[in-house]
Amino acid sequence: MRRILLLSAALPALACVPAGLGTDTGDLSSSSEGSSTETIGSSDASTSSDSTTGSTGAESTEGDTSVGSSSDDDSGSSSTGETQSDWEWDLPEHFPEPKVPEDNPMTAEKVELGRHLFYDERLSANGTQACASCHRQELAFTDGVALPLGSTGDIIPRNSMSLANVAYSSRHTWGNPLLESLSQQATIPLFNEIPTELGAVFAEQEILDRLADDPLYLELFDSAYPDDTGNISWINIRDAIASFQRSLLSYSSPYDAFITGDDDAISASAKRGANLFFGELFECHHCHNGFNFTNATEHAGTVFDTPAFFNTGLYNIDGEGTYPEAGWGIAEFTLEADDMGKHKPPTLRNIALTGPYMHDGSIATLDEVVETYAAGGRLIEDGPNAGDGRANPYKSSFVSGFEMSAQDQADLVAFLESLTDEVFISDPKFSDPWK
Ligand code: HEC
Ligand code: HEC
Repeated sequence: MRRILLLSAALPALACVPAGLGTDTGDLSSSSEGSSTETIGSSDASTSSDSTTGSTGAESTEGDTSVGSSSDDDSGSSSTGETQSDWEWDLPEHFPEPKVPEDNPMTAEKVELGRHLFYDERLSANGTQACASCHRQELAFTDGVALPLGSTGDIIPRNSMSLANVAYSSRHTWGNPLLESLSQQATIPLFNEIPTELGAVFAEQEILDRLADDPLYLELFDSAYPDDTGNISWINIRDAIASFQRSLLSYSSPYDAFITGDDDAISASAKRGANLFFGELFECHHCHNGFNFTNATEHAGTVFDTPAFFNTGLYNIDGEGTYPEAGWGIAEFTLEADDMGKHKPPTLRNIALTGPYMHDGSIATLDEVVETYAAGGRLIEDGPNAGDGRANPYKSSFVSGFEMSAQDQADLVAFLESLTDEVFISDPKFSDPWK
């Protein structure tokens, strides 16, 4: 099934547009980076069955996922006058170059500024929270809790996501079909009011003044934006944070060593687990394919748009497929019944570090995740969310359940554990520069 949705028409109140952007913040909602998409192909599991990922999982995903409208031109036009990109990606052979918006080229100076901002609690109105509060390097930029709290104590109803290889995400967050650029995304935790994360909306000018009071920032902003000196603006902040996040690349796990020639890098159990993962009985790779273990992947040269959202049968609270309120996935945006519960398959890189799992952190361990897939979804016996997710009418046909021995389960989990990248989580260039 394939549909074209006119989302811009269907969505008067976009949750991805931060509320309350004052005029002095510049026009943040019409992102200079990334485009506001007019038509989006909504993909269903059945359209992505032509995945060609082989047993290495290292192939490019280009063209092998479900295809919507090809909207990868960047409608951004304004340039704030950055230096020409001097950036070297220095990637291993099995990794393509990330796609970088033309109006926000990578530079070492911008990445360094973005790193300072990412770790700076002064970016929250009350000075208590930074991006890094919920995105901790040692946990592959997650936070270890099911649902985090924002700076003013609001419960954020979704699980913090890993930022490993977020440069390749074709859509950002768990279930937003419109959020294509990291610059756009950064405005949500900064400015959203309900729920409040950093709450910058309550102190927009004050925060800019705080940064301007720090001589280090004057230097960092001027070298990141040499044609825009003396301008500490939200647009420059947002774009620098996006650049830092694009630099967060994870490609040095034991599994990477294995597929690039070191046969002893992973255990025999993990090798068997890889075969199960890429096999047609367990079917994991249909949604978690390619070098980044997710269909929702794009990179430099990707021609087709690749949003990918699936219902994996976690809930069914009314017997008609309904998920709990904060878990509607893309249906929250499209208001289409059959988009209910459709979420983005996250990358599985560093997955052993990023629990608890799923969009609401409702599964504690990898063993339980794997058991849930083997059961073809989740039966919740009692409580407010009781219902048989296995029978969810919108569940992907790739989550139909399978026989799994105790050995298979141990093998699959060993494979998932082989995706942990110790280099990534300890690399000083991604660490807190204020320490
Ligand atoms: C209070 C905790 C919290 C804070 C603070 C926070 N985040 Fe997040 N982050 C989350 C949660 C929760 C999600 C998933 C959101 C959703 O699906 O609605 C997320 C998702 C993301 C994503 C999407 C990742 C993907 O795979 O597409 C990015 C990027 C991100 N955050 C960056 C940031 C940046 C940049 C900041 C600081 C400006 C920040 N976050 C601050 C909790 C937080
Ligand atoms: C039909 C597509 C699909 C298939 C098949 C699939 N997944 Fe997923 N996977 C997803 C989606 C979508 C999510 C997020 C679901 C949610 O939160 O509602 C997810 C979440 C996960 C998570 C949790 C990620 C996190 O960061 O919380 C793990 C681990 C995982 N899948 C592993 C697997 C394994 C192992 C298999 C094979 C047994 C598999 N998946 C098969 C789509 C799929």
